[in-house]
Amino acid sequence: MSGFPFSFHIRLQTIFKPHGLMVRRKPQGCCDDVIFLDLSEMDLNVDLTDVHFWVSLATIMFNPFFWNVVARSEYRNHTLEHFLGSPQRGCIFLGIVIVGLGILRDWLFKIAIESQPRWSLLHENWILFLGYACILFGCYLVFTSYWALGFYGTFLGDYFGILMDDKVTGFPFNITDNPMYWGSTLNFLGTALVKASQSGIFLSLVAGVSYQIAITFEG
Ligand SMILES: *[C@@H]1O[C@H](CO)[C@@H](O)[C@H](O)[C@H]1NC(C)=O
Repeated sequence: MSGFPFSFHIRLQTIFKPHGLMVRRKPQGCCDDVIFLDLSEMDLNVDLTDVHFWVSLATIMFNPFFWNVVARSEYRNHTLEHFLGSPQRGCIFLGIVIVGLGILRDWLFKIAIESQPRWSLLHENWILFLGYACILFGCYLVFTSYWALGFYGTFLGDYFGILMDDKVTGFPFNITDNPMYWGSTLNFLGTALVKASQSGIFLSLVAGVSYQIAITFEG
C-alpha cells in the first residue's frame, strides 16, 4: 500500500548506561566502566518512508493539542457558547468533534500499523495476550473514567463554566489522576503488541508523551 515495500534495517551500536535489555561488556582493557548496549540484533522495524506512519504521528500529537487550544479559547472568549446558545450546547458540540477526531486518529493508527513492517521478535503468544490485556484494561479505565466524570466532565465542561459538584476521587481516579489518558495510551500499546508492530509501540509512546504535555498545560 505504501509504495515502498522495504523497511530500514539499521544496525546500531551505541554506548549506553546499563539500562538496556541486551547489555554486553566490552573486552577487557577497554573502557572498563562503560557498558555497551548491542542493538545490532535489534533491527529497527520502522519504515520511515511510509506516509501513513507520519500521518498517524501527526494526528496523535494534534488531538490533545487541539482540544486544549479550543477549550482555553472557549474559556476566554465563549465563542462556541455564544454561537450555539448555551455552554451545554457548546460543550456537546466540542465533545462530538473530539470523539470524531479520536475515531479518525484511531483509524489512521490502524492503517499505519497495517502498512508498517511487523517485528518478528513480538511474534510470541504471551505478547499477544499481553496486548489483549492492555486493550481490555485500557478500555476499562476509559469507560470507568467516563462513568465517573459524566459527559460534561469528560469533554472539558469546566472550560465552559459547567462545573462538577465535587472533585471525583473514586475509582479509577484513586489510582491515577488521568485514567482516561492512561487508558487511551494502553489501548494504543495493546493494539501495537497484538499486531507485533514496533512502529505501533513507538506511536503509543508518542501518544503517552502528548498526553503528558497536555496535562501540564491543563494543570
Ligand atoms: C479505589 O476505589 C475502589 C472503589 O471505590 C476501591 O475498591 C479500591 O480499593 C481503591 N483503590 C485504591 C488504590 O485506593
